[in-house]
Amino acid sequence: MKDIKKYIDTHQKRFLDELIELLKIPSISADKAYKEDVFNTADAVAERLKEAGCAKVEICETPGYPIVYGEILKDKNLPTILVYGHYDVQPPDPLDLWESAPFEPVIKKTEGHPDGAIFARGACDDKGQMYMHVKALEYMTQNDDLPCNVKFMIEGEEEVGSENLGWFVSRNQEKLANDVILISDTGMIAKDVPSITTGLRGLSYVEVEVTGPNRDLHSGLYGGAVANPINVLTKMIASLHDENNHITIPGFYDQVDELTADEREKMAEAPFSLENYQKALDIDAVYGEAGYTTNERNSIRPTLDVNGIWGGYTGEGAKTVIASKAFAKISMRLVPHQDWKEITELFKTHFESIAPKGVRVKVKPHHGGEPYVTPIDNIGYQAAEAAYEKTFGKTPIPQRSGGSIPIVALFERELNSKTILMGFGLDSDAIHSPNEHFGVWNFLKGIETIPHFYHEFTKLKSAEN
Ligand code: BES
Ligand code: MN
Ligand code: MN
Repeated sequence: MKDIKKYIDTHQKRFLDELIELLKIPSISADKAYKEDVFNTADAVAERLKEAGCAKVEICETPGYPIVYGEILKDKNLPTILVYGHYDVQPPDPLDLWESAPFEPVIKKTEGHPDGAIFARGACDDKGQMYMHVKALEYMTQNDDLPCNVKFMIEGEEEVGSENLGWFVSRNQEKLANDVILISDTGMIAKDVPSITTGLRGLSYVEVEVTGPNRDLHSGLYGGAVANPINVLTKMIASLHDENNHITIPGFYDQVDELTADEREKMAEAPFSLENYQKALDIDAVYGEAGYTTNERNSIRPTLDVNGIWGGYTGEGAKTVIASKAFAKISMRLVPHQDWKEITELFKTHFESIAPKGVRVKVKPHHGGEPYVTPIDNIGYQAAEAAYEKTFGKTPIPQRSGGSIPIVALFERELNSKTILMGFGLDSDAIHSPNEHFGVWNFLKGIETIPHFYHEFTKLKSAEN
């Protein structure tokens, strides 16, 4: 392992060039217009895995986008690490807010990244982080330093709910058998505060439609006499939170796992500056559920947010109209032990019940996912901790994240192994936003840390037997 820093130094320019090539392909899974690009990205990832020394690489078809699978099986008596990541990305819009084009990657110095950051859609989420694993593998194969078996499973539908991954996993349990699952698709607290993600929130995503009159109406002739679907929808949405910002859906909190005072105290030890947080977002105050801190609100508490709302006239100038329909997309982030299907039902029942006479309401569920929390008293976590200690010189802090990777809970159930979330992104990396970027330092530090995990895990696993 002593040569890894040297190897990275020697090859970093090529590593970055290769990542840039991958980032140029617009693998937007949500938009059918990019279907070919998504398929091409799968091919490119497969090619890169082969070049990195992965003996066996397959493109596994699914009813949707393919899963790239690779493996190096050295010896059945050695432990097996399964690496998961995704090659699809979020749509880049709004395009006009990008300082450089989303699929023409550039490396620029920016605040917090004096060594530069790669700006492109997918730079951090997740092509950049996924590619750290490919390059870490390259180091290990090229330097005869791979201590265990490894399997790669890189999917192309994470950003649209991983619909076919469950299908693939349940059909390939033996092929995917492993001792630990390793994922880099989360963040860390700060460059000098390494952390390991120990929790993810679940998700219930719904779309609602409110219909009033059978056609758009003149807002003078009819205004005041019929329900305006947009007025009604906004009022209904507003009623979903009370004055303490608690969610008002009956039963919504029934299954929520409340943390003990001890656990909350422990959480509060993680370094956090409210002032910097507000400054970074240009807000003069934070906002959220009464009785909880900012870090609690965005990780251990469930939420309900409108992600988009539309209807009526939004073109230039003024048009006097009462729209026939109004729409909104609403997401609820869930925590253990909320069941996303149950929450979706609770939402539907409640939302329909609060509709006033004069409108009809439809609730259409999109996708969902389970929340996830992992204990830290397992060798996977201990191996990750030791790896960070080697490369950061500090013990990482366990941290629950607010984001969702719905497939993680399913992995544990179907494959019966623990997942370790070693994320190297920063909250300021603007994932899903315009100007997404990933620090060059973070990218290289990830490549350096990953092989240490392989070694530490192999050591601990062998000691266990
Ligand atoms: N990588 C993110 C999730 C994430 C980011 C978790 C940062 C923790 C820290 C993932 O690609 C993502 O965006 N997930 C979606 C859910 C999915 C079903 C669309 C999300 O969290 O909105
Ligand atoms: Mn991701
Ligand atoms: Mn994402």
